[in-house]
Amino acid sequence: EKAGFDHFMLKEIYEQPKAYRDTMGSRIDESGTKVVLNEVKMTAEQVKSIQQVHIIACGTAYHAGLVGKSIIEKLARIPVETDVASEYRYRSPIITPNTLVIVVSQSGETADTLAALREAKRCGARVVAITNVVGSSVAREADDVIVTWAGPEIAVASTKAYTSQLIAFYLFGLYLAQTLGSQEAEYIASVVSELKELPAKVEQILEQGEAFKDWAEQVASHNNLFFIGRGLDYAVALEGSLKLKEISYIHSEAYPAGELKHGTLALIEEGVPVIALAIQDDLFEKTVSNIKEVKARGAYVFGLHAEGETELVKAVDQVFSIPHTLPLLSPALSVVPLQLLAYYASLARGNDVDKPRNLAKSVTVE
Ligand code: M6R
Repeated sequence: EKAGFDHFMLKEIYEQPKAYRDTMGSRIDESGTKVVLNEVKMTAEQVKSIQQVHIIACGTAYHAGLVGKSIIEKLARIPVETDVASEYRYRSPIITPNTLVIVVSQSGETADTLAALREAKRCGARVVAITNVVGSSVAREADDVIVTWAGPEIAVASTKAYTSQLIAFYLFGLYLAQTLGSQEAEYIASVVSELKELPAKVEQILEQGEAFKDWAEQVASHNNLFFIGRGLDYAVALEGSLKLKEISYIHSEAYPAGELKHGTLALIEEGVPVIALAIQDDLFEKTVSNIKEVKARGAYVFGLHAEGETELVKAVDQVFSIPHTLPLLSPALSVVPLQLLAYYASLARGNDVDKPRNLAKSVTVE
């Protein structure tokens, strides 16, 4: 059942190219220039009436929602807030009939997410669900459902569900942009064409799987480390940090790189590992200067950059590169090395990778 892999988590990491392809599936038209989301039944008028978007989820799905916020704001130019479901419900959110609420849940059964969905509906908002389980509670109660075709995810640590949620957000963001006319058709076609390249690029990353094993073995001997990045790199840093904590039990913190000097820099001392994501072209210089700040305090820096960007090599102790793509699409690639890092670190520490302590796959209680 593990198809020759030692753990479900590793199998699911390696299933990602297929999950991307299946989730894009027939949702890209034959010309390869447009998205077709027949499952979304909103009329053009309804789409045009959206004044704000709320994205609600828990854990890893929440991290996908943080990327979703950037995707929708960039493509559709509608303001988006992303909230943790257990917080959203209790903060009297301003939900109007012109609010579009997107709930994201792999299982479709997470209690807090489901309760947030019900609250949104009670306030008259339209609800779109992004879920991996057809017929789940979330799928049944939402107005529109975008299924992520990742296939069953068994490992408690979510991997292919997260990345297929990202794909669903790209598709939905493009759909909104097409309907609203918020982007030129040419630009949309260029994003679609890059989107189609992602599965092959993930395959390239997975081919260097062993390199991430060495990296994880170095990290596994530490009890405390940092992930830093800016913009979407920060959103991915949050997911990388959660994954590492969840299965390796190593404490880590994800920090927006530019915010370090407002307090957290005090924790950087000789030998503290810092994993720095410098993928975003437009933020590269800024991130490099933040890397220099931690290096100057003795941090040991592992850098992650896009192929062809050679500058990072000089600023860090070790560097890993991933294939180049549009900055907006990069989370769908940059998270993969971080998943492998968490997997191999958990393995190096002798933990039960697929069933980490204290956690359940589906959290159906508040
Ligand atoms: O099924 P859901 O997507 O609603 O689950 C949400 C979280 O419980 C889940 O993503 C959790 O954070 C994962 N174990 C993280 O790997």
